Amino acid sequence: MVRYGLIGRKLGHSFSKDHFTGVFAQAGLKDHRYDLFELREIDEFPELLRNTKGLNGLNVTIPYKESVIPYLDELDPLAAAVGAVNTIAFVDGRTRGYNTDVAGFRALIATISPRLSDKDRAVKPRALLLGSGGASRAVAFVLREQGIRFRIVSRSRERGDITWDMLDSSLVRVCRLIINTTPLGMHPNVEEAPPLPYAALTAKHVLMDLVYNPPRTRFLELGRTHGACTVGGLDMLTAQATEAWRIWQAPIAPPGLIH
Ligand SMILES: NC(=O)c1ccc[n+]([C@@H]2O[C@H](COP(=O)([O-])OP(=O)(O)OC[C@H]3O[C@@H](n4cnc5c(N)ncnc54)[C@H](OP(=O)(O)O)[C@@H]3O)[C@@H](O)[C@H]2O)c1
Repeated sequence: MVRYGLIGRKLGHSFSKDHFTGVFAQAGLKDHRYDLFELREIDEFPELLRNTKGLNGLNVTIPYKESVIPYLDELDPLAAAVGAVNTIAFVDGRTRGYNTDVAGFRALIATISPRLSDKDRAVKPRALLLGSGGASRAVAFVLREQGIRFRIVSRSRERGDITWDMLDSSLVRVCRLIINTTPLGMHPNVEEAPPLPYAALTAKHVLMDLVYNPPRTRFLELGRTHGACTVGGLDMLTAQATEAWRIWQAPIAPPGLIH
């Protein structure tokens, strides 16, 4: 049996399990299976590896994308630059960490480029990045790559540029791109939304939510009510999963691999 799976603290219903089970079925890979592995703490990870024979790939989700890194044998240079791992490949008995959220978010941001006016494209909209966790690191990497200036909004002064209480209407007015990388609004807490001054939004704003369940979050609905363009997390989800599958099938050692 060739085994894959997802590690995280609380997994519930998983997109990844359904997605990869479908990929295996479509490719006729009857000896492949994908399981959910809930870990109360990341220090349970070595035991999972010892007790699960035939592992070929793992995805990593909340809250372990950063804390899993010290447990890995090797790190792909992109994952090292981002500082977060969401995909693990097993190569010659060694674990190697990758980041496919970067490819996922590149795909998502490509969908909004045509929605920005020429003027907006030229000035590169200033962005607000809500949350400072694993996915936020991948988004920040892509924003830097694209020359989009941004500020990170965090509950803690140490992890972000500003805290939520500093997020006022004047800041929201000038930051035309707002990206939610917190789990606020994620199933089952669908009534939650990041605490923004939504009334400051205009038709020139673009709101992106990495949350994909539900596909239309309260954050996006509030944005739409105020005329903003809105983008959900589903396209990113499929793009990052496709990249993970590509890596698992051919996990070649990239130059600059960190041991
Ligand atoms: N669509 C996709 O492909 C995709 C990919 C990756 C992630 N996601 C989604 O993105 C979300 C975050 O995932 P992640 O792996 O980055 O999780 P994570 O590492 O736990 O980071 C989430 C961050 O959100 C902030 N946060 C957490 N709870 C909060 C609360 N109650 N109020 C305000 N801020 C809060 C925290 O930042 P501070 O400590 O700085 O406040 C935390 O670091 C999840 O909903 C996940 O499903 C989607």
